[in-house]
Amino acid sequence: MQIIDGNALAQQIKAELREKVDKVVATGKRAPHLAAVLIGDHPASRSYVTNKVRSCTDAGFQSTLIQRPAEISQQGLLDIVNELNEDPEIDGFIVQLPLPEHIHEMDITLAIRPEKDVDGFHPMNLGLMTLGLPSYLPATPMGIMQMLERYHIDISGKTCCVIGRSNIVGTPISILLSRKAIPGDATVMLCHSRTPDIKQIALQADVLVVALGRPHFLTADMVKEGAVVIDVGINRIDDPTKKSGFRLVGDVDYDNVAPKCSYITPVPGGVGPMTVTSLLLNTWKAYSGEIYPRL
Ligand code: GUN
Repeated sequence: MQIIDGNALAQQIKAELREKVDKVVATGKRAPHLAAVLIGDHPASRSYVTNKVRSCTDAGFQSTLIQRPAEISQQGLLDIVNELNEDPEIDGFIVQLPLPEHIHEMDITLAIRPEKDVDGFHPMNLGLMTLGLPSYLPATPMGIMQMLERYHIDISGKTCCVIGRSNIVGTPISILLSRKAIPGDATVMLCHSRTPDIKQIALQADVLVVALGRPHFLTADMVKEGAVVIDVGINRIDDPTKKSGFRLVGDVDYDNVAPKCSYITPVPGGVGPMTVTSLLLNTWKAYSGEIYPRL
């Protein structure tokens, strides 16, 4: 069994980016610039956004964090989005989800210019991705694909089981795994809350991607010997022995599942750090006009 070390891969990708950034900055150009918008004070969201901003520094990027209280109106947030859309100094930006209930997430997603949508959530980018055309890939699925690629895990012709059909992870990763590409060419089964017998489907899978947000959902009896297990869950569970009062666990019962796997991602230190570096990779693409050429 091999542990897929998301921290080490993320460091490597950030170092590669830093080298590219240093080169362009040495020619007198400004560094790539990512902005993040954080609404309210959801503790997990705050922690994710802080990580994103900190990672910008590691890669030599500029970053801007815009924080507003949960009471901001939808129009107030749309005004911020429009300003960022128009700001020539900002290459890409994200609005951290979830948003407060009175704000329609899709209205905000649609307002972000596809050229600056480095989360890859806009229908334009998801559409390009679905057609196999160059686009910004959503950060978590992109991080998973990077892990498979950099660990030389061949999924062509393999059976994959994705558990969870969110717009952010389950749906896009199921498309990426089945695309005609490398990595790709897998046969994908997408399980969700209405799937009657997930265990029976999971047991057939060579690759399992678990992204439903339920601590320790995937147990050892659901996993075929030698499977690759990718754990996307980041769940906070109470732990009075910790100073913070909680610890992070994934959607996989790691201790019991790991001995059956050929590869597995830990939580923390697996998919999480790769999500952040994917965002930086997309921002680099926005900066260099790789997807949408700058006129
Ligand atoms: N909330 C959970 N994951 C993400 C993500 O990748 N991007 C944004 N914007 N919000 C999230």
